[in-house]
Amino acid sequence: MMKNFISTQSWSRSQLQDILDFARSLKENPYQPLLKNKSVAMLFFNPSLRTKTSFEIGISELQGTAVILQPGKDAWPIEFKDNIEMNGDEEEHVKEVAQVLSSYCDCIAIRAFPAFEDWSVDRTDHVINSFAQYATVPVVNMETIEHPCQELAHILTLQEHYGDLQGKDYLLTWTYHPKPLNTAVANSSLLIASKFGMNVKLLCPSEDYLLDERYINAASKNCLSEGTSFSVTHDIESAYSGAEIVYAKSWGSLVHYGNLPAELNCRKDFKHFIVDEQKMGMTNNAVFSHCLPLRRNVKATDAVMDADYCLAVKEAANRKHVQKSMLTKIL
Ligand code: CP
Repeated sequence: MMKNFISTQSWSRSQLQDILDFARSLKENPYQPLLKNKSVAMLFFNPSLRTKTSFEIGISELQGTAVILQPGKDAWPIEFKDNIEMNGDEEEHVKEVAQVLSSYCDCIAIRAFPAFEDWSVDRTDHVINSFAQYATVPVVNMETIEHPCQELAHILTLQEHYGDLQGKDYLLTWTYHPKPLNTAVANSSLLIASKFGMNVKLLCPSEDYLLDERYINAASKNCLSEGTSFSVTHDIESAYSGAEIVYAKSWGSLVHYGNLPAELNCRKDFKHFIVDEQKMGMTNNAVFSHCLPLRRNVKATDAVMDADYCLAVKEAANRKHVQKSMLTKIL
């Protein structure tokens, strides 16, 4: 059966653990012909450093072929709406694009961030779901409104540090950034930390920065079935107190979504959510991580980023291994 990798919620914990275990063996033995004669079309609607590099190099280490396309730049702009007279900028429809790429390639991977205009539209994840609808090969999420490849790298890195993660105290904290950013990594953080049996706390400055109920509910449900706890707080001290893992991300308010002046006015009061040594000092000797890219001394201080407990670079390095493992499993 064809298996997409769009959301980890469609994969069981044991299936994900299989991917992580195989990623560890690929770290030891990176060059194997596991993707020989296989090809992956990678479509980037948004910029990337880690995702692009780690996929392309990883695929070549397994003797596969990666083709990188940027629709609207080096490939034709694509229309996603149905029943539309295409007299705008778009030159072809996702129906043809997905079928044509399926005829050349064994997998289609997509990076498509939300449009930041209307969350009720963006939350349907229409771009990647359209590819999944019309493609006849597996579709992989390279970050849309979730970032499942980052989730795998995050958990592998934490398992390398702690071993078993069951019952660990995990904090996802909102942190300041001058612009509203995608909620994908935050959504993903809740999904994967709860799935892997941790007690999950979400710290955000106010109700305006709560994540979509889909992810809050999924994390609550995962925690319930794992016998762990899930909570939301706006209080920095109680959130950091006793945490064993601190994961930071900045994201845009869903309340002010598409209203930049209101958003900027709201977030200007929350610069103190920066991750610093004082906050890390309240934890239970916690490790810190972030998906990167990260603005130093805005999202986290130099002291935090340069500390031994900062796993952000190790997590980025693990992207390559987990993606190689995941592609091997689905192809
Ligand atoms: N973390 C991450 O996906 O990095 P890039 O945006 O550079 O790919």
